[in-house]
Amino acid sequence: MSTSKKEYKRITVKTLVDMKANGEKISMLTAYDYTMAKIVDSAGIDVILVGDSASNVMAGHETTLPITLDQMIYHASSVIRAAERSLVVVDLPFGSYQSDPKEALRSAIRIMKESGAHSVKLEGGKEIKDSIKRILNAGIPVMGHLGLTPQSIYKFGTYTVRAKEEEEAQRLIDDAKMLEKVGCFAIVLEKIPAALAKEVSESVSIPIIGIGAGNDVDGQVLVLHDMLGMTHEFHPRFLRRYLNLYDDMSNAISQYVDDVKSRDFPNEEEQY
Ligand code: KIV
Repeated sequence: MSTSKKEYKRITVKTLVDMKANGEKISMLTAYDYTMAKIVDSAGIDVILVGDSASNVMAGHETTLPITLDQMIYHASSVIRAAERSLVVVDLPFGSYQSDPKEALRSAIRIMKESGAHSVKLEGGKEIKDSIKRILNAGIPVMGHLGLTPQSIYKFGTYTVRAKEEEEAQRLIDDAKMLEKVGCFAIVLEKIPAALAKEVSESVSIPIIGIGAGNDVDGQVLVLHDMLGMTHEFHPRFLRRYLNLYDDMSNAISQYVDDVKSRDFPNEEEQY
């Protein structure tokens, strides 16, 4: 398969900023456990996001709100043990940073110290500026997240495209510039018009990683279980499915059940 992947020993936050400056696109996927992270890392992904989407795909919750800091640290530790090349970013979960900057810093420190992660991601703009600054002052790299921010789903009321109106679009541009100014190393833009994402990407020098934000940004992120087709009830327009693992796994498991019931498994060669 053709590839424009460059060889990097280890991706750092500086590598990502250089990639944007050199016009090289950044690839990012989620992972939440050792085995999947090992595959993702060795396939050449640049950034692994231990997303709070673990709340949905790993734990079966309807939203990202229930996952705890301890649970995020557990997932992050498993991923870190597998990541030899990629930069690992970990979401600060809902309720672990919104109260005040000190709480935000304590949570970020726990993630870095207890999991060995390389950086953290927080959802929001100017309302969490002081928390971001405090975390950055402690030497912890921060990735921002604007647009559709799923931790605020009950405020939005729906998962539809954000910032279609002028006022929200301008606020998003201002927030992106602020995140760059305080020192974030990258920003995720989720589910916003492609033209707006392009404008944001052109207004800042840090990488913009899009999900449902079009192609004129500096990189793309998807939830691993969605792009592998392990989930099948979720089909937003931005999602490209590279496999249909739900059906493939389901067929394999049915076949195993049949083989056990029919006494076909194990055969002579599969026993001692
Ligand atoms: O938690 C997550 O998976 C995310 C991505 C959707 C960007 O934040």
